[in-house]
Amino acid sequence: MTGNSEPQLPFTAVPFDACLGADVEGIDITAMDDTAFQFLAEALDTYHVIRLRGQKVSDPDLISFASKFGDLDPPGPSPYGRPIHPTHPELNVITNLKDEGGIPLGNLANAEAVWHADITCRAKPPKASALYAIEVPPEGGDTYFADMFAAYDALDDAIKQRIEGLKAIHDEAHNSVGMLRHGFEEVTDVRDTPGARHPLVRKHPKTGAKSLFLGRRPYSYIVGLDLDESEDLLDELWAHATQPQFTCGVQWRPGDLVMWDNLAVLHRRDSFDDSYRRVMHRAQIKGTEAIA
Ligand code: OGA
Ligand code: MN
Repeated sequence: MTGNSEPQLPFTAVPFDACLGADVEGIDITAMDDTAFQFLAEALDTYHVIRLRGQKVSDPDLISFASKFGDLDPPGPSPYGRPIHPTHPELNVITNLKDEGGIPLGNLANAEAVWHADITCRAKPPKASALYAIEVPPEGGDTYFADMFAAYDALDDAIKQRIEGLKAIHDEAHNSVGMLRHGFEEVTDVRDTPGARHPLVRKHPKTGAKSLFLGRRPYSYIVGLDLDESEDLLDELWAHATQPQFTCGVQWRPGDLVMWDNLAVLHRRDSFDDSYRRVMHRAQIKGTEAIA
């Protein structure tokens, strides 16, 4: 071989044993140069979910790391009437811990989070999240991801044609563990669900590749269909999209940092025993893309 072969990069992406997800090894996110950042950004595009293990990340570190991917998207108001993070309002705290008065110190508690993408109730949903594990339970609280490009590709042509051009409502009133968000009321008819309407099929702005864009199943409705027809089609699409062959799972260790492409995957989380402690800090990156 001649001397013009590429220099060996000091980091690698090791794919999970699944159709999405990879461990990126050899990068300390607190000391990343441009080459490392480019590698990570490409790995996120390729694998949709990337995990970096053994990271030691302060809150300012997490903020400056995530800011390289775009403007941060601070969490919405806490249902408990005070900032979610006491000193860094850019960050979300995902935890089951409570203060001495029993008031939750973060979001989602120990509950199961059903399959969802984050805040797709907006016209331009967040494009990515970085979730950093500080304390994790010895069992439970695993997180799963599902690849919406693979799910779309595997649909049969008749369904692909049927859903082309259809839009669904993405509920704004509830969070991913089903709690009513601050300032919202329950709706009884899903046709009245508040939230953005997005095409069921997203086209990647760069590659043109198509993916399913489902958001969340509860309170969803496919605009213009009869209620029964909408329910049946949504059930069919959700059952298809969350089959094990499209998914990967993460069993957390402290020091894991997991990033996901929020427009390309769904995620869900197992519940865990509330006697355990689970503390994660999360940075979310603003989306700039209307779904099309
Ligand atoms: C989230 C979320 C998953 C988890 O932060 O958006 O769904 O593992 N969390 O806590
Ligand atoms: Mn979520």
